[in-house]
Parts: sequence; C-alpha cells; structure tokens
Amino acid sequence: MLSRKWLAALALLALCAVAAGRELQAKKNTVTPYAANLYEAVTKAQLFTLKAAIDAAGLTVAFQNPNLGVTLFAPTEAAWQRFYRDCAKPPKKAADVAKYCSFDKLKAAKKSELQQFVQYMVLYGSATVQAGNDWWPIGRQFVKKPSLFDKNIMRLRYLAPYYEAHGTGRDSNVTIPNLGAGKSLMHIVDNVITYSPLG
Ligand SMILES: *[C@@H]1O[C@H](CO)[C@@H](O)[C@H](O)[C@H]1NC(C)=O
Repeated sequence: MLSRKWLAALALLALCAVAAGRELQAKKNTVTPYAANLYEAVTKAQLFTLKAAIDAAGLTVAFQNPNLGVTLFAPTEAAWQRFYRDCAKPPKKAADVAKYCSFDKLKAAKKSELQQFVQYMVLYGSATVQAGNDWWPIGRQFVKKPSLFDKNIMRLRYLAPYYEAHGTGRDSNVTIPNLGAGKSLMHIVDNVITYSPLG
C-alpha cells in the first residue's frame, strides 16, 4: 500500500503535469494570420460547401468585410457529409436533426432560411481558442455566447484537450483553431453546428 505521503506527492506531480500541459496549450493557441477576411479564409481553406452556402444565403459581401470582428465556426467537407448522412436515419434526439440532405438541396434552400443557418455558425467577438479565457474557461462549465442569428446562443466548453462548440441542435469540436481573417477569427469544426428546432 502506498503511504499517505506518497499519495500526496503523486497528486502534486499530476497537478504539475496538468499545469504544464495547459501552458503548452495556451502558447500553441495563439491567432495565426490567415486571410484578409472570412470569405477569403473559407476559400483558402477549401471549404467549398460552406462557401456555397454563404453565397446562396446572400452573405458574400458581409463575409468579405475585413472589419467584422466575429468568429466563424466553419464545418469541413466531411462534416457536411456527416450532416447529409444523418438525414437518412431517425435522430436520437430532436437536437440531432439534419437538413437539406445533399449539396444540391442545400443550394436550393430558401435564402432567408440559409441566412439564419449560416449566421448561427458565427459568434459576436473574437472567441480565441485558449484554455482559461472568457470563452473557454478551465473547469468544464458551459459558456453561453450569442450568435449572429437573432442572438440565439451557442454554448462553448473546454473539455481538455477538446474545445467544444454546442449548438442548441448539433454540436462540434474545434479541429483547427484561431485562423485570423481580418478582424475576425475562423475555427474549423468537425460537425455542422445547428440550432433547434431546425425550421
Ligand atoms: C469531441 O471529441 C471527443 C473525442 O472524440 C468526443 O468524446 C466528444 O464527444 C466530442 N465533442 C463534441 C461536442 O462533439
């Protein structure tokens, strides 16, 4: 059996390791200048589907504004495929509902609806991915932040080593953080973040 002293020493060691890991994370997660504006960032990252959705929603010019000062959670192409695929199976819960079900259907969707859909992927302000800041505090609690879609909220959580962004519908993990796009920020995420109910 380990003595109490030993256990205390081990606990201290574990704490130090956690702290060291955190420091590394904080250093790693600084903003990288990437593009002059969000639209350029989406193009450069080859996020074709998101780009098409932005265009079809009539938000191209808005996203080209270098002075926006918002944060876009940009789904990968794989994330869209996952989204479409989920149309085929009954959702486990209402929040998981998918929509559009193919690229063609997405592009053909009602403009006003697409606008809300895309605006929900955007938060006001610079949500820098960094452990322990206002957006992703240490300690697993959810932080609510308003999106551009009528201030409908997204909930952010740092669940080390993951940075999660939860919609009121579908949730995601940030896979590539902190791409600077003018005064805005883009994080690439592994799922299409949605609100619920998805009208
Ligand atoms: C983030 O990724 C981890 C590891 O795959 C997973 O356990 C967790 O559920 C994911 N979170 C979200 C919100 O997708």
